[in-house]
Amino acid sequence: MQAPNTEFSRAGSLEELRAKGRIVMHGHHRPILVIYDRGRVVALDNRCPHMGFPLERGSVEDGILTCHWHHARFALESGCTFDLWADDVPVCPVEVRDGEVWVKTEFAHADPARHWEQRLADGLAHDLSLVIAKAVQGQLAAEVPRADIVRQVALFGARNRDGWGVGLTILTALANLLPVLPEEEAYLALFHGGRHVAADCDGAAPRRERAALGSRLDAAVLKRWLGRWVAVRHREAAERTMLTGNRGRALSSRTRRIASRGRDGAGVRRQRTLARLHQQGIRMPRPDRLGARGGGAADRGRPDGGSPRCRGINRLAAAR
Ligand code: FES
Repeated sequence: MQAPNTEFSRAGSLEELRAKGRIVMHGHHRPILVIYDRGRVVALDNRCPHMGFPLERGSVEDGILTCHWHHARFALESGCTFDLWADDVPVCPVEVRDGEVWVKTEFAHADPARHWEQRLADGLAHDLSLVIAKAVQGQLAAEVPRADIVRQVALFGARNRDGWGVGLTILTALANLLPVLPEEEAYLALFHGGRHVAADCDGAAPRRERAALGSRLDAAVLKRWLGRWVAVRHREAAERTMLTGNRGRALSSRTRRIASRGRDGAGVRRQRTLARLHQQGIRMPRPDRLGARGGGAADRGRPDGGSPRCRGINRLAAAR
């Protein structure tokens, strides 16, 4: 009997599989679980993607495979999990020919870099450390440059939180170390950077797009308005004014610098951080396109000038 394809290995006869319900066979890199369920044959990685419990000891009911260690559940046919913290189980192609079951014993992805990029996006979006860890590892194994991974995480953080969080600072600090870190530490740096950014963004309001004002205005007017909005910590107004100035290049770079300083140093930190990322070869959109972090509305108009951060802004504004 001929194998349908040299990449496929024989798992056993369909009759045997039907009688036993499941068979574990050797895979290229790890054991593969072959399951017969209501006329269908599926093959999956036998290790639970959560913490490696052998799935052969799980139970199948109504097309759902349940791991008996932490009770993660998976759609049998696709391997997709219903419990996101557990991650999906890799599945492999199966062919039944002449009453024999053949399984492709490799869990390769057609485009591994693309696959792990998407998994990192999923892990960040759902704040799943396990998925982030695997996706970083997968991208590094697929020889994705470290800088590209940092860029993906940084852009996620900039777009999914309406302000600059500690996670982006941690990511930046670790990204600065990447050129001197050996492989294993580089992996840890990327993972922890991603984990903190994801935690920052979890449940946070995403960055909101703001538009330039509809009219063309004199640079002097825009500068005056910008000073006013910075002084009263009116973030949206300051941002729209800056965007208007940027559109026509009406505001000088010095004015833009003052505005970013006016955001209590967060703007300055952001500029420095982005400059450092740039030095690492990680290009980010211009800061004014990523949204700006200003003080909280609670600080606005407080007679004592608000928090120390707020008082710093007011001092800067007054110094102008
Ligand atoms: S090892 Fe399977 S759910 Fe934890």
